[in-house]
Amino acid sequence: MTKTIFSGIQPSGTPTIGNYIGAMRQFIPLQEEFNCFYCIVDEHAITVPQDRLQLRKQTKSLAALYLAIGLDPEKATVFIQSEVSAHAEAAWIVQCNTTIGELERMTQFKDKSAKNGKAGVSAGLLTYPPLMVADIILYQADLVPVGEDQKQHLELTRDFVERFNNRYGNNNAILTLPEVHIPEAGGRIMSLQDPTKKMSKSDENQKGFISMLDEPKVIRKKIKSAITDSSGVIEYDKENKPGVSNLLTIYSSFTNESIDTIVKRYEGVGYGQFKEDLAEAVVAVLEPIQQRHDELLASEELDLILDKGAEEARLVANKTLRKMKNAVGLGRKR
Ligand code: TYM
Repeated sequence: MTKTIFSGIQPSGTPTIGNYIGAMRQFIPLQEEFNCFYCIVDEHAITVPQDRLQLRKQTKSLAALYLAIGLDPEKATVFIQSEVSAHAEAAWIVQCNTTIGELERMTQFKDKSAKNGKAGVSAGLLTYPPLMVADIILYQADLVPVGEDQKQHLELTRDFVERFNNRYGNNNAILTLPEVHIPEAGGRIMSLQDPTKKMSKSDENQKGFISMLDEPKVIRKKIKSAITDSSGVIEYDKENKPGVSNLLTIYSSFTNESIDTIVKRYEGVGYGQFKEDLAEAVVAVLEPIQQRHDELLASEELDLILDKGAEEARLVANKTLRKMKNAVGLGRKR
């Protein structure tokens, strides 16, 4: 049977090249072989306060980016999470079968609540992983392509599926056990300003990340000011040269050349030239994506694609939701 893929990105800002390398880029080849669902997870974005107009704008922009990077709506289902109500419904069943202890152990929750205190974060931030579990199980996904930071959430998903099938399945697997799919290189792209920190779209320091919609001149400037070290030697050494190693990973991802090939080419060449070439490589990939993104946003095509995507997603998600409700005894048997 054809395998099913599910993944999602939050429209909490414009995706960075970290999101692109760690996740989005993997979406494209998978659509050729598998049954793919790619979601704009707007319900996840409201776990922290959002400006409603800005959120709407970012949601559509992310949808346009999905298509601009090469997702084909004839091959993959592209849709907005909040337009498929089964996600929120299934998340409730997931929450009722997950312990508070499990959720309090999630690193993302621990980090954010440590920073702001429990009174300073929404309950949604705690119960966000169950919503992510719901996203994945509703499509009976076999494979979930994500960056490294989502690994823990995938482990929670697997634990949940095993528990749910055990509790309610009478030896039948009601839900599919998903596998995580993290790229070998580029699963964790680091900040350009602090290479010990993950590149993040919500970083207050704009120079730390490159957004997929940054103008070429901004991209060039940000790469030029990326933190390296004083040795001037281009080599891959994550421990001792995290800045240069991160730039090498980005270079390799954008040109599809191996890190070894790149290192050899820059033997005896300084950081200046290396950064200039890297900036051109990034611009060469992002510029056509940006043009297509702008065209799609201005067209009526995008709404039609998203309408069709939501319809396709609802059919599959509602079927699983019905199974879950039957399993736990909600409503009348149907
Ligand atoms: P989000 O929106 O934070 O990130 C989207 C994807 O990008 C990856 N990523 C990175 N990869 C490499 N380097 C980085 N610096 C980097 N930053 C982010 C993330 O690992 C992710 O794959 N909870 C998820 C969204 C989600 C989801 C899902 C994903 C909701 N439901 C179901 C998969 C399946 C999130 O916040 O991703």
